[in-house]
Amino acid sequence: MTRLTWLALSFMVAAPLAASDQLSGDRQRELRNVLIQDCGSCHGLTMHGGLGPALVPDRLAGKSIEYLSSVILNGRPGTAMPAWRSLLSPAEARWMANQLLQGEVQ
Ligand code: HEC
Repeated sequence: MTRLTWLALSFMVAAPLAASDQLSGDRQRELRNVLIQDCGSCHGLTMHGGLGPALVPDRLAGKSIEYLSSVILNGRPGTAMPAWRSLLSPAEARWMANQLLQGEVQ
């Protein structure tokens, strides 16, 4: 197989995934664990705050999914908030932001 064919094939496999905002049930369960265990280590197991601020609907009201997911992906330089870009896709960060806004992680 030529290098070009290989590239074309991997693009065809990767493209539908990247284009889709639909996460599998398994991935949603994994992300929920990340929210509780990793994010919770700073933001509190019930997201009511710790080293990081509370991430509960009352406090997040008015903040957009775009804003919140961008903080999740890029972190906040100069603070303890790390960037999650290497572990999460933009769709996954949006899913998490939505979970927080809906108060699903309490
Ligand atoms: C090592 C500690 C730490 C971890 C782990 C962490 N955060 Fe944070 N996070 C912070 C801190 C500290 C801030 C506040 C930064 C500032 O002062 O602006 C913050 C800010 C945020 C904000 C912005 C809130 C706002 O109102 O503007 C969001 C959203 C957020 N974190 C989500 C997450 C998510 C989701 C995860 C897990 C994927 C996570 N954080 C993991 C420490 C952490």
